[in-house]
Amino acid sequence: MAVLDYHGPCRGHLPEESQDAAIRDARKIKELRVSKTIAVIRGDGIGPEIMDATLKVLDALDCGLDYEFVEAGMVALEKHGELLPQATLDTIAKHGIALKGPLTTPIGKGFSSLNVALRRHFDLYANVRPALSFPGTKAHFENIDIITVRENTEGAYLQEGQTLSADGEVAQSLVRNTRHGASRIVRYAFELAVARGRKKITVVHKANIIKTASGLFLDVAREIAKDYPQITCNEMIVDNTCMQLVMNPWQFDVIVTTNLFGDIISDLCAGLVGGLGLAPGANIGTNAAIFEAVHGSAPDIAGKHIADPCALLLAAAQMLDHLGMVDKGTRIRNAIRETLAAHDRVTPDLGGAGTTETFAEALVERLHG
Ligand SMILES: NC(=O)c1ccc[n+]([C@@H]2O[C@H](COP(=O)([O-])OP(=O)(O)OC[C@H]3O[C@@H](n4cnc5c(N)ncnc54)[C@H](O)[C@@H]3O)[C@@H](O)[C@H]2O)c1
Repeated sequence: MAVLDYHGPCRGHLPEESQDAAIRDARKIKELRVSKTIAVIRGDGIGPEIMDATLKVLDALDCGLDYEFVEAGMVALEKHGELLPQATLDTIAKHGIALKGPLTTPIGKGFSSLNVALRRHFDLYANVRPALSFPGTKAHFENIDIITVRENTEGAYLQEGQTLSADGEVAQSLVRNTRHGASRIVRYAFELAVARGRKKITVVHKANIIKTASGLFLDVAREIAKDYPQITCNEMIVDNTCMQLVMNPWQFDVIVTTNLFGDIISDLCAGLVGGLGLAPGANIGTNAAIFEAVHGSAPDIAGKHIADPCALLLAAAQMLDHLGMVDKGTRIRNAIRETLAAHDRVTPDLGGAGTTETFAEALVERLHG
């Protein structure tokens, strides 16, 4: 693959203070591991069903976690008149860790995405999306194990700077990457790679065309990579990355990239392993980390007890990894792998006739056995 020979205006070493801030952030992330009480948002639609199943599995692992249940979404709107009550934000802030069921964002003016609101409130700058293949799914590929680390707060997803001319003919938006933003996300990706025993990071960019915004990101990544000689670091242009992911996904280990590219690539990776049904994600900041399934509240199947709990369970496993209980996270992933391979009591989306509850029972039996 081509290593980009980029000579844009942003070349040069990171300023000391920027490096220090990024390192401080990475260290603070580790400090979060002391928390053993977590905030739990059961969520809307299928949320309560898959959350109950997930907590049953977590309890079977005897992780020593306590749960403080808080409300958000439609439940909170009905009870408290607001989608995201201050008490919920305070509880997440207190514990630093939340496990979250999917939330329904009501359609209509005045309601913006709760997930975006949480991201902004806690400055959750790292969106971490593992894509892991399992047997007995619609996955097109086997043996995939890719983590996408996406910058979550800047890039092409800024609220400000989006304009439409009065005649409706010209639309503009702003793309802004900062050295601080690039530093902390790249630093996070390298720290994660080291902590998980990963060998390689691919920096995905478009610095050949978007010379300043993507160039700055690439430049910062090149500098930070020098601090991690044990991790192989390569660079790849985003369009080539998409093709390479479909042609030869096994070449990827950890991907780090900017907001828009990461949004697209993480869903592409989910597609490689059978779709969003098995896709967990974490939104991580310096003071809080929120773990969730990537899919939504699935109102069409809510209350039918056929929702697949796997994505939320995999998010719980990711949370255990983050809390320093990687062995327990691995046990969840192994139990899911064995249950899917045996096609034992799995839900209809996976071709089974099981329910959310029987699926959880099958997992718990494997954890006990
Ligand atoms: N992270 C979140 O909280 C989040 C993410 C996406 C959408 N949403 C919200 O969810 C609501 C519904 O959104 P949508 O319908 O576009 O997407 P969705 O992911 O809820 O559902 C899409 C399709 O996938 C199926 N599906 C989803 N999860 C499943 C599971 N665990 N098991 C079996 N089938 C599953 C659904 O039945 C549906 O057919 C909206 O209000 C949206 O805003 C929330």
